[in-house]
Amino acid sequence: MCHELDDLIARLTARFNARDEVLSASALVHGGREVVARQVERLRRLRPATVVEIGTRHGAMAALLARLAGRVFTIDLQESSLVPEVLDAAAAHNVVPLLIANDAAKGLLLDHLSFDLAFLDGCLERDGVAFDFAHTRRCGRVLFHDYGDPASRGVTEFVNSLTEGTLLLDAPFAWWFAPGIEPLEPVRALNPIQAPAPRRPASCRDGTPFCTPGLRCP
Ligand SMILES: C[S@@+](CC[C@H](N)C(=O)[O-])C[C@H]1O[C@@H](n2cnc3c(N)ncnc32)[C@H](O)[C@@H]1O
Repeated sequence: MCHELDDLIARLTARFNARDEVLSASALVHGGREVVARQVERLRRLRPATVVEIGTRHGAMAALLARLAGRVFTIDLQESSLVPEVLDAAAAHNVVPLLIANDAAKGLLLDHLSFDLAFLDGCLERDGVAFDFAHTRRCGRVLFHDYGDPASRGVTEFVNSLTEGTLLLDAPFAWWFAPGIEPLEPVRALNPIQAPAPRRPASCRDGTPFCTPGLRCP
């Protein structure tokens, strides 16, 4: 039973039906109900005060986040005229949609917002994901969307490149917890990977046979 999700999907289906991709373009249905319901359960336990979402589209996921958080800032480069209608249908009165001109403006805005969870669902290029992460990671918890999706390799590559903190993978979602932040559940739970420690170059102190006599050890 996932009341927040089922009720929201029923409301949006009743108002929009299949038109305008309100549901089909959203993380709300990507991967199927069960996987989204698991994220809802995690969000319910976390109860973030303020979530920042990057990538509003029509506002469907913002409307879900709004049911599980005190307030949601949702940011996009492009305006959708459906956002007010979606938020109204969902009775999501605690969502603040923010339209930005470019990534530089987005970075500046993010640096001045206060939030305790970030949901990244905007740019799918690796560099773009890295940019959004760099401007949100200070909150300690980042939820990525599109992880493992072959059409969004940049997200998967970026998440897999993380070398600190803890990952909890539940494709198409991936949670990152900063060092010192408790993951929501034992990391064993779904498909968690503890990012491997970076490899230290071999040193002659390790007795490596590759050490050149006479050169200083690194
Ligand atoms: C898949 S849609 C988001 C769907 C929404 N999160 C949901 O689940 O209902 C991706 C959105 O990201 C926006 N976007 C793309 N590149 C972006 C960027 N660099 N910064 C912010 N938003 C971006 C697009 O305009 C689009 O509306």
